[in-house]
Amino acid sequence: MDKFVIRGQRPLEGTIRIGGAKNAALPCMAACLLTEDPVTLENVPDVRDIQTTRKLLESMGVETDGGSGRARHKIRMQAARVTTPEAAYELVKTMRASTLVLGPLLARMGQAKVSLPGGCAIGARPIDLHLKGMEKLGAQLRQEHGYIYAEARRLRGAEYVFDRITVTGTEDVLMAAVLADGETVLENCAREPEVVDLAGLLTAMGARIEGAGTGTVRIQGVNRLHGAEHRIMPDRIEAGTYLMAGFITGGSLRLTGLEPGHLQALLDRLRECGAALEIGPDWLATMPGPRLRGVDITTAEHPGFATDLQAQFMALMTQADGASVITETIFENRFMHAQELNRMGASIKIEGNRAVVRGPAVLNGAAVQASDLRASASLVLAALAAEGETIIDRIYHIDRGYERIEEKLRSTGAAIRRIGNLIKTN
Ligand code: EPZ
Repeated sequence: MDKFVIRGQRPLEGTIRIGGAKNAALPCMAACLLTEDPVTLENVPDVRDIQTTRKLLESMGVETDGGSGRARHKIRMQAARVTTPEAAYELVKTMRASTLVLGPLLARMGQAKVSLPGGCAIGARPIDLHLKGMEKLGAQLRQEHGYIYAEARRLRGAEYVFDRITVTGTEDVLMAAVLADGETVLENCAREPEVVDLAGLLTAMGARIEGAGTGTVRIQGVNRLHGAEHRIMPDRIEAGTYLMAGFITGGSLRLTGLEPGHLQALLDRLRECGAALEIGPDWLATMPGPRLRGVDITTAEHPGFATDLQAQFMALMTQADGASVITETIFENRFMHAQELNRMGASIKIEGNRAVVRGPAVLNGAAVQASDLRASASLVLAALAAEGETIIDRIYHIDRGYERIEEKLRSTGAAIRRIGNLIKTN
C-alpha cells in the first residue's frame, strides 16, 4: 500500500490547474447506458473511481476507448448492446456510486440487478430514496441476497418528492425519468452543480429537462436518446482543497480552470477568516496575509458549505486564531480525521455532530492514517503545515478522487513523495 511522506512548512507558490469533477463524471459515465450511440466525455479526471466505473460499464458490455496516454481525460463509451445489466457486489462495495447505473439500466433495458452498497466509513448512506423514486416511476423491486432486482416494461412519468436531499439519488431518478412515458416532476432535488452538469449531458443526448439546479426538476420523457459529446465541469472540491492548501502554508497559489461561483460558501467563510483571496472569472489566488481567525461552519446541501470540504476546513482551522465550531449535518460519522489531526498536535473536541477546533496549534509530523477520500486530503493539508515529516498511510483513498495530487503539490514547492510499503522512508 502506498504512503505519502510530506515535509511541511513550505509555502506553496505557483499555479495548479484544476481537473474535471469526479462526482460529475461518474453519473455522466452511467448516462452512456441510456443510448446505443457513442457518448464522449472530455475533462474526465484520471482517478481510481473513474477506472472502477469504466470496469463496471465494460462488465455490462459497454465498449470504451481513450482514458490513457495523451487522451487520458477523454473517454468514449458506447453501449450498443448491454449484455449484463448488473452491478456486482465486488464493484459496488469498492465504490457506492456504482448504484448510479440503476436508473439508466431500468430506463433503457427494463431491468437491472444492482448490489446494495454496505456501510461506509462516513455514514450509513442507504439508497432507499433512489429505490422509492424508481418505484414511483412504476418499477417493481425485490431484494434478494444483497441485491436489488428491478423491472419495468416501460417506466411512466410521476411526481416524486425526495424525503431528504440526495445528490446521487436525484441523478439516478433523473436518468430513469428521461426515457419514461410522460412527464415526471421531482421535488426536493439536490441543487449541486454536478446535477446540472449531468442534465447538460442528458439534454445534449435529446432529453427534455427543466429546472436542474433548483429544487424542482421537470422531465418530459422521450422515446430514445442519441449520442453526444460533453465536457465535464471543473472539480469544485479539488479546487477548494488546493485553495486551503495555499492558505494553510501561507503561500501564493493560483488555481486555474475552475468556476469560483461553485465555491461561494467556502469563499464567504474564508473572507470571514480574513483570508487574502483574489477571485477572477475562472481562477482563484491565495496571498500570504495575517493569521486567519477561527470561524464556524455548518455543512449543508448546495449552495451551503459542502460536506466534502469539511475535513480540509478543519485542518485549516487548526492554524487559525481562536475557536471554530464545525457542525456536520450530512453524514453522521464524518469526523474520523479529527483524531488523526489531534495526533499531529491539533486540539479538536468532538461532541456529537460538532467539532470544536481550538487554534492555533503547532502541528508536528506523525504517522497517520487516511480513513476516506476527503479525510485524506485534510491530513495532507495538515502535513503541509506541520513541523517535520508526516507519513500518511492508506492513500488509496486519495487516489480515488484526486488526480496526481503529489505532482500538483510538488510543482508548487511542496516536499511530498509517494512510497511503496517496503521502501525505507529515509
Ligand atoms: C454524493 O454522495 C457525493 N458522491 C459525495 O461525495 C458527497 O459527500 C455527497 O453527495 C453529499 O454532498 C457522489 O456524487 C458520487 P447523498 P451521495 O445521497 O449522493 C442520506 C466524495 O468525497 N440518504 O446526497 O451518496 C445519506 O445517508 C463523496 O467525493 C438517505 O438517507 O450522498 C446522507 O446522510 C463522498 N437515503 C444524505 O442523505 C438515500 O437513499 C445525503 O447523501 C440517499 C441518501
